[in-house]
Amino acid sequence: MRRRRVVALVGAGAVLAVCGGGGVATLVAWSQAGLDTAGQVDFRNRLAVPPLAESRIDREGRRVFDLRAQEGRTDFGRDEATRTWGFDGDYLGPTLRAKRGERVLVNVVNGLDEPTSVHWHGMHLPARMDGGPHQEVRPGATWSPHWTVGQPAATLWYHPHPHGETAKHVLRGLAGMFILDDERSEGLALPREYGVDDIPVIVQDRQFDSRGRFREGSGTGDTILVNGIPGAYLDVRTERVRLRLLNASNSRMYTFGLSDDRPFTLIGSDGGLLPAPHSMTRIRLSPGERAEIVVGMEAGENVTLRSFPTNLHNILSDRFAGIRDMLDVLQLRAESNLARSPEVPAVLAPIEPLGPASAVTTRKFALSGRQINGERMDMGRIDEVVTRDTTEIWEITKEDGTLHNFHVHDVQFQVLSVGGVKPPVELSGWKDTILLPPNETVRIIARFADYADPDVPYMYHCHILSHEDAGMMGQFVVVEPGQKAGRPDTQGHHKSHG
Ligand code: C2O
Ligand code: CU
Ligand code: CU
Repeated sequence: MRRRRVVALVGAGAVLAVCGGGGVATLVAWSQAGLDTAGQVDFRNRLAVPPLAESRIDREGRRVFDLRAQEGRTDFGRDEATRTWGFDGDYLGPTLRAKRGERVLVNVVNGLDEPTSVHWHGMHLPARMDGGPHQEVRPGATWSPHWTVGQPAATLWYHPHPHGETAKHVLRGLAGMFILDDERSEGLALPREYGVDDIPVIVQDRQFDSRGRFREGSGTGDTILVNGIPGAYLDVRTERVRLRLLNASNSRMYTFGLSDDRPFTLIGSDGGLLPAPHSMTRIRLSPGERAEIVVGMEAGENVTLRSFPTNLHNILSDRFAGIRDMLDVLQLRAESNLARSPEVPAVLAPIEPLGPASAVTTRKFALSGRQINGERMDMGRIDEVVTRDTTEIWEITKEDGTLHNFHVHDVQFQVLSVGGVKPPVELSGWKDTILLPPNETVRIIARFADYADPDVPYMYHCHILSHEDAGMMGQFVVVEPGQKAGRPDTQGHHKSHG
């Protein structure tokens, strides 16, 4: 029988909620200390690993993938199956994988009965291939973006980005991983056998109603899914396992660590491997961020990947992002015989620092309410014009009491400072999304190397999806020197959201 243990209730006004089966906690408690499922999750479902997407090489030598957004039904262990959306399946999508230098083409088919889009989060590519709100795919239509992979090995991801509707589409299940390799990553003695010692860990929270349906509000959920599986465990067969952590949740923050506080090795951030590995015990990921970690295991032992409360002061609506919560995420179960794994190499992928002196301008972005610099997203307005082949500093400040982060399309950036001081190691590599700490300015630097197009903008936005949908997003174009911004196409985008 399943182990049942009642969590001690802390604080007045605590609520006791009983959840359905499905391998998740039978009893969870909310209190002023937050939701706590540590030790309460019954890990009885084997972790599913998203299949690697099949691909073929076309006559022009391009690697071609097919991706179809469709409706489905998923059994999350509730009384009734949940209506979900997925790519090529019922929930989530296959892992796309390509190598630096390759040309790729993806045939995106919209099998839903409403418009969607597919954005390649973290990918450097032309704006019209980016899959943002200007590249909407109508029901029944096929959209076939193509580009050359011109960036280092990294753990990227893809998800819809339709204007004002992103939260709903991602929450229903449209998301997947996009892994990039390069010569360097292939030559490093890191765990790299997909699904064996190199594991995608797509972390999402969901709230179910009594009929097993997803609650689609903007709050956090009490059930953690990893690769779409609640109460998941992973059988570890090697001394070291690499976890590609992706926070694919709509609004929840995670501070990952292991249940016995053992250190793990951080090897990569959003845009690729770090110059050197770092031993640490916690890694914080806001929505959209990724981290690659290597965990060492002893034969026969179990340890749980857990999210610990996040230490952030002055956040008023912290309950909303779940920063006080303690959540069991994934159990790692080592087999009684483990295959040998080499030590993590001392040198990973050197990164050339972008010097602040090379920046041609410093732009300021203030986030407050659901606005950036006092404006809500307008599909017809270009907010910033960047010149191709220049480097810029962006200064981002959060000016309200809510949790926000900041994501930039097109580029991977480097973090110059957080609150005036040098960033911690987890922010020392390539990033495309960064948490905005309260009352502290984040300074980032990026080079907008190529892909000028005056008419098609890239986005920058808060990656808390309900904020993004409510307008906390802006648009920039990259133009040739001396060129002016053109006019973005707003055909067919009449919805406004408040
Ligand atoms: Cu992952 Cu513009 O988003
Ligand atoms: Cu993106
Ligand atoms: Cu926000």
